[in-house]
Amino acid sequence: MADKALADEVRAALAGISIPGGGMLDTYQGLSEIIVTENAVAFAIAVQPGMEAAFGPVRDAAVQKINEIAPAKKALVSLTGDRPQGQGQSADASTPPPGAGGMPGRNPGPPPKEAVKGIRHIITVASGKGGVGKSTTAVNLALALAATGKRVGILDADIYGPSLPKLMGIEGKPAMREDGIFQPHEAHGLKIMSIGSMLEGDQAVVWRGPMATSALRQLLRETDWGELDILVVDLPPGTGDVHISICQQVPLTGAVVVSTPQDLALIDARKAVDMFARLQIPILGLIENMSTFVCPHCGETTDIFGHGGAERTAPEIGAPFLGAVPLHMDIRLTSDAGTPVMVSAPDGPHAEAYRHIASGVLAHPAFT
Ligand SMILES: Nc1ncnc2c1ncn2[C@@H]1O[C@H](COP(=O)(O)OP(=O)(O)OP(=O)(O)O)[C@@H](O)[C@H]1O
Ligand SMILES: [Mg+2]
Repeated sequence: MADKALADEVRAALAGISIPGGGMLDTYQGLSEIIVTENAVAFAIAVQPGMEAAFGPVRDAAVQKINEIAPAKKALVSLTGDRPQGQGQSADASTPPPGAGGMPGRNPGPPPKEAVKGIRHIITVASGKGGVGKSTTAVNLALALAATGKRVGILDADIYGPSLPKLMGIEGKPAMREDGIFQPHEAHGLKIMSIGSMLEGDQAVVWRGPMATSALRQLLRETDWGELDILVVDLPPGTGDVHISICQQVPLTGAVVVSTPQDLALIDARKAVDMFARLQIPILGLIENMSTFVCPHCGETTDIFGHGGAERTAPEIGAPFLGAVPLHMDIRLTSDAGTPVMVSAPDGPHAEAYRHIASGVLAHPAFT
């Protein structure tokens, strides 16, 4: 069935679900667009803060309808008290997190954080600025952590530019068990889930705000991670809804912030650090990526983006400096080939740099 026809059929079925306060779900103004992807039907139901519990049965009924109409697809239905779609997408650190403000007595605040079963530590890899090498760092850091004997998973939470499938050389959708729980991909010893698996083409464009945070919640909680010591979450660039949402949903052990050495990137890195501080997430440390360029032909080093900026900034923001990774062709080529440098050249100097960073992460008191 065409996606549009299926979305229409689901919407029609929602006409049979009544909502608290009167009316039916299909015409409820808090109902988002219904999005159909190859393996999911997704929408969000925005509710007034405090009304989540009352709408619980509505969500369950909606999931049941989707399961009846499209049993082969995953039903992703979220209840959200978040801001309506389109507002404050790129919240900066000065924006209070959803649920943190509002009129006294009216806003109950975010629900308590709930750990993900089987996962001991969740860490995020973030950067204020895009394109600084967050995903490359996240993957190699996860592999370096796994090389210490830890059981490690990685979750790609970047809805706007998911890159883990390419970096880890995985293809296709994750398998889904009969009970609707995802079976994560596995590659190079890591368990992997990517929000990209739920999206096709330009659908990322419409998966904004509440939809994105809801999908993230389900990928975290409805995946059979097994027992993991550490889950590394690769975040989108910036300081937006996905960041705030994950900080509020689960207890995070801490955040690693990646920056290139130049001032502009460091200004954005400070914003990311500030956001985590406001959300009371420990900063595990700062990483300087693309630190020094080593010419593959003559071996000469050039500081294209400057050098040492992150190391100088780290003490100013009270975060450990975890280490520097050079700008090197091998890092890019191996990433593009789906065999990160930690796998393709485990004895080389780049792998050593990531191992050094991993040991710095594990040395943080948050891990002890
Ligand atoms: N140390 C490095 N040396 C060489 N190339 C690198 C290095 N780090 C990252 N790259 C390359 O830079 C590009 C951007 O890296 P990556 O996708 O990891 O950045 P990102 O911060 O996750 O980007 P986005 O903000 O879009 O999520 C990629 O082509 C990657 O291969
Ligand atoms: Mg990325």
